[in-house]
Amino acid sequence: MCGIVGIVSSQKNNVVSGLIEGLRRLEYRGYDSSGVAIISENKLLRRRKAGKLVNLEADLKESPVSGNTGIAHTRWATHGIPNDQNAHPHMTDQVAIVHNGIIENYHLLKDQLLEKGVQFTSETDTEVVLHLVNQHLEQGLSPFESVKKTLSVVRGAFAIAMLFRDYPNLLIAARSGPPLAIGYGKEEMYIGSDAVALSHLTQQVTFLEDGDIAVLENSGVKIYNLEGKRVERKIQQSKVGTSSIDKEGFEHFMLKEIHEQPDVIRRTLSEYFNITHTGLHFRPLPFALENVSRLTIVACGTAFYAGMVAKYWFENIARIPVELDIASEFRYRQPPMPKDGISLFISQSGETADTLAAQAYVKSQGQPSLGIINVANSSLARAVDVTFLTQAGPEIGVASTKAFTTQLCVLAVLALAFAQARKTISQEDLTQYCKDLAQLPLLIEQTLLLKKDIAEIARSLLEVNNVLYIGRGPSYPLALEGALKLKEISYIHAEGFAAGELKHGPIALIEESVPTVAIAPYDSLFEKTVSNIQEILSRRGPIVLLSDEKGHSLFTSQAIKRIILPTTSSLIAPMVYAIPTQLLAYYTAVYKGTDVDQPRNLAKSVTVE
Ligand code: M6R
Repeated sequence: MCGIVGIVSSQKNNVVSGLIEGLRRLEYRGYDSSGVAIISENKLLRRRKAGKLVNLEADLKESPVSGNTGIAHTRWATHGIPNDQNAHPHMTDQVAIVHNGIIENYHLLKDQLLEKGVQFTSETDTEVVLHLVNQHLEQGLSPFESVKKTLSVVRGAFAIAMLFRDYPNLLIAARSGPPLAIGYGKEEMYIGSDAVALSHLTQQVTFLEDGDIAVLENSGVKIYNLEGKRVERKIQQSKVGTSSIDKEGFEHFMLKEIHEQPDVIRRTLSEYFNITHTGLHFRPLPFALENVSRLTIVACGTAFYAGMVAKYWFENIARIPVELDIASEFRYRQPPMPKDGISLFISQSGETADTLAAQAYVKSQGQPSLGIINVANSSLARAVDVTFLTQAGPEIGVASTKAFTTQLCVLAVLALAFAQARKTISQEDLTQYCKDLAQLPLLIEQTLLLKKDIAEIARSLLEVNNVLYIGRGPSYPLALEGALKLKEISYIHAEGFAAGELKHGPIALIEESVPTVAIAPYDSLFEKTVSNIQEILSRRGPIVLLSDEKGHSLFTSQAIKRIILPTTSSLIAPMVYAIPTQLLAYYTAVYKGTDVDQPRNLAKSVTVE
């Protein structure tokens, strides 16, 4: 989603390169245009370009700008197509703005402004904020009063940063929804969408709270709430390193992140349980699990599918009722939240707008919430009662890979902890499950060795327009996740189905040109899936079979393309089987020549609803 960077500096140095480096670090969020505005000799100057950051850099090279105070932006289009005119910053001759989020009542505000003769130069919702602030300035209000008065009539979710021609040592930022971080430098202050955007400038950050307005000068920051009262916000040490994250020799971040999985899984698991000489010990959890009457799991996209896999574990192993929903539905459903229930939110970024709103609803109902989150200090991490961090490290590829498998690891450990507390598991079974988990990094290493075979199979998907994925039990959510991965980076239409549901409709789609990826570890449901695979083969549907030696040995058909995975226990099969679905999507996208790390239309961090 949109990224914001701002610098106000007392030094004579030009802030443009610092702004551009901040934008570079925000590229991973997904965007379709970028721009920068600075104050130069009592004038606001702007450069902005549709497309990738290189376009803006080329423009800046051709017509450079320089100054001590500036704002910059990467835009992910919501209102208006991605072109130069809609790119941020938007500006009048005395004020410039960058914005992340959506102004929900912009139609109404725009009509009022049009009636007063204001001329709009873009299709964006952002421009109404600009013109309202501009009008208040013209009426003689201070920049702070102008922003405060404007925000009192604006509805929606937004993070903004503004620059004022007549105040060269001033930036104003405000947050209501999407995150904003303030950074501290030496006689310099910064604004960023997240700590990553500022990581080349500072490690000292403050995260604004909803409703905050921050007034930055090069000497420091004053933060106010919407009523205009001064508030104090903690300064924290950012957990993001200073170096920019690089691909370390891999062609894409996604491929690097797929390969990091053995390590990050090892690291994540070691956070939550220890294997000692005397037995297996879970790290103590800071709440009592035995009395929980129901677990509600809420998330979006890939994180939701991780929750869906875990539903099988929590129900089967820990015998706890689970309600599961996607956050965008849950937040408006007003579901009753039972007493003694706990809610669990899963998010890589910790900034997904719908997930945050769902958590806020649960909180308003008085239910405690847990979070499985990859970004410490994120909005969700700060909102939940207990955070379980996944140790995946920064995930840059828009398609989630290592975040998914580390989420699964934390969920598996949590399911076992619930089972132990609720006495629904024998010590013997618990020990076995933990041994299985401990073996997981090694099995993933073995699975990664299959990448050449998988790449070969990916070639056969190049000409197809539709791919189906099927699975049963925990392999069903994996089928949904596999299909999501393929469609988001290769743009091939793909759908996941519960294997048993095929004959209730989707089987009508089967024909020679529609391959089905069958996710079928040799487990208690294997034979059932075999029947579904046979039904597809009988209708000349090609199959890509993901199974182990034993599973494969039961098929002789030549129409099957085979990915032979290591033998796994049922608990860890979803993590192992996730790997070939990621690689299949990856290689298909590479062969199709798509933008693997920043696929079209997608954003890494979905901070608007
Ligand atoms: O940051 P989150 O985990 O909350 O993000 C949720 C989804 O937007 C995310 O998983 C999305 O579906 C991925 N692009 C999938 O690869």
